[in-house]
Amino acid sequence: MSDLWQNAMDHAVAIARKSGELVREALRDDRKVMTKSSSIDLVTKTDQKVEQLIIQSVREKFPSHRFIGEESVAAGETCDLTDTPTWIIDPIDGTTNFVHAFPFVAVSIGFYVNKQSEFAVVFSCLEDKMFTARRGGGAFCNGEPLQVSDQEDVRQSIIATEFGSNRDVEAVDKIFSSLRNILCLPVQGVRSAGTAAINMCLVASGCVEAYYEIGVHVWDVAAASLIVSEAGGVLMDVDGGAVDLMSRRIIAANNRTIAENLVKEIESFSPTRDDTP
Ligand code: IPD
Repeated sequence: MSDLWQNAMDHAVAIARKSGELVREALRDDRKVMTKSSSIDLVTKTDQKVEQLIIQSVREKFPSHRFIGEESVAAGETCDLTDTPTWIIDPIDGTTNFVHAFPFVAVSIGFYVNKQSEFAVVFSCLEDKMFTARRGGGAFCNGEPLQVSDQEDVRQSIIATEFGSNRDVEAVDKIFSSLRNILCLPVQGVRSAGTAAINMCLVASGCVEAYYEIGVHVWDVAAASLIVSEAGGVLMDVDGGAVDLMSRRIIAANNRTIAENLVKEIESFSPTRDDTP
């Protein structure tokens, strides 16, 4: 990896920490909420402010780089990943948590070159945990190496998932049917942190065996995907094929055995892709 990417990664860590401070301050005194696609798809001034802060500071240092940011896309920018170095940003992953002061929120920054992830930063800012990964260089939390769980038996596993913001009855029925199948395997537990990025960092940390969701966005999972794979885990589509970050479907697991067990139980569907113009 060229030194340039190391500089970029150092910058990502610094700006994620600064963003986390902003999020923590705002949590105390500014959680005014607005909605996006529906009454349960939330955004706050803090999401917008943090995304602007990150984009501006990166643009000053790396003027030729591109961005895919949750709030910029909501404001009408395109969501296409090209070969150009691209920062994929979720300023607050867990906006609903933030609005309710439910204590798991993350700043997520993924960095892609030639459509391949080069480094990743997820700052779980209320836990003060800085998760990082470099392609081929391992995954870390506050500098300590991460390793996924070695559990091979899904019945001795904890599985994380989320319910997302889709309230379309057909989709909700499929989500519950999948959840029922998985609970009745039986697994030892099901958990939801309320942020895709933190759920995936829990997989990377070996605390849960897998996380799956249909309905996530590329900015929710772009960074944490590298953290999972560098911690020894696997990524898979919910139908068992290769994961496609724009497809809004993901399984992140400690190993293929657990991922393939989930594939058998998930009733899949296909939300509108993130890169649909
Ligand atoms: C959401 C969170 C949530 C997941 C949704 C995401 P946001 O991201 O990660 O856990 O269920 O699918 O969109 O909107 O808080 O950045």
